[in-house]
Amino acid sequence: MSFNTNEDVASPSVGGFSRPDQPGPTDWTAYSSAYDLLSMHNPAYKALMQDFAAFLATIGTPQRIYDIGGGTGNYTEIAARACPDSEIHLVEPDAAMIRSARTKLSAHGNINFHNLALEDVKGTDTCDLVVCVHALYAMPEQVQRLDDLHRLLRPGGYLYLIDLGRRMDVADWRKYLFLELKKRHGLAGALRVFWQGREVAKQNKAICEAQKSGAYWTHTPAELASAVSNAGFEVISQKTVYRGYSDLLVCRAK
Ligand SMILES: C[S@@+](CC[C@H](N)C(=O)[O-])C[C@H]1O[C@@H](n2cnc3c(N)ncnc32)[C@H](O)[C@@H]1O
Repeated sequence: MSFNTNEDVASPSVGGFSRPDQPGPTDWTAYSSAYDLLSMHNPAYKALMQDFAAFLATIGTPQRIYDIGGGTGNYTEIAARACPDSEIHLVEPDAAMIRSARTKLSAHGNINFHNLALEDVKGTDTCDLVVCVHALYAMPEQVQRLDDLHRLLRPGGYLYLIDLGRRMDVADWRKYLFLELKKRHGLAGALRVFWQGREVAKQNKAICEAQKSGAYWTHTPAELASAVSNAGFEVISQKTVYRGYSDLLVCRAK
């Protein structure tokens, strides 16, 4: 397998809003500062992580794992705990996100960090599991990106894909999170976390605007399944998750 970069080397500029040098609709750097704070208070986000841990327990140990658009490394961390002997690659174009992941995951010796966009990853055919959670919708040219994910996998390798498909209703999420926080931490606690996590609300609004303008992909469950099948995957299972906003597909590369 060839990999076109050393660790933490920024990707070359070849166009597309996901590149570190070309700001896109979401300021992932700003988002990274509060990403884990609010995620860890979001039961819907935590349920997704539990789903992933449960999935890993159902398959044989993957030797090589990629976490694409891995952000602050929450899924990489689950994989690293479940598969301490596997070779894990976290691919993330935003420097602040990957910095946060690197700090959080410093105790694990089996993780390689790549400050790259998916479209700049050159590996082929050797990976046993590709994880891509809530990142595909934000990438340019999803048809090609699904081809990229397929290219990374050996035949029979797994794609664990979660994607935001429906328009992000910021008021709905705000209400949901506030009520959850209030239940657990009281009114003052909820207000405190909301204040600390205000950047997340701002970036979620930007995501919603990008969905409205068509800069970010929105899809029905059937549209995502069809795109994934067209890229050469067999869909093993599919369900709607994240309060109806996202789709979770477990697939195998044909
Ligand atoms: C909402 S975050 C999800 C992070 C992580 N997967 C999680 O679920 O916690 C989306 C991530 O996708 C990354 N991303 C955006 N465009 C990308 C691209 N073209 N290739 C790889 N990752 C990309 C962003 O930098 C951001 O960190």
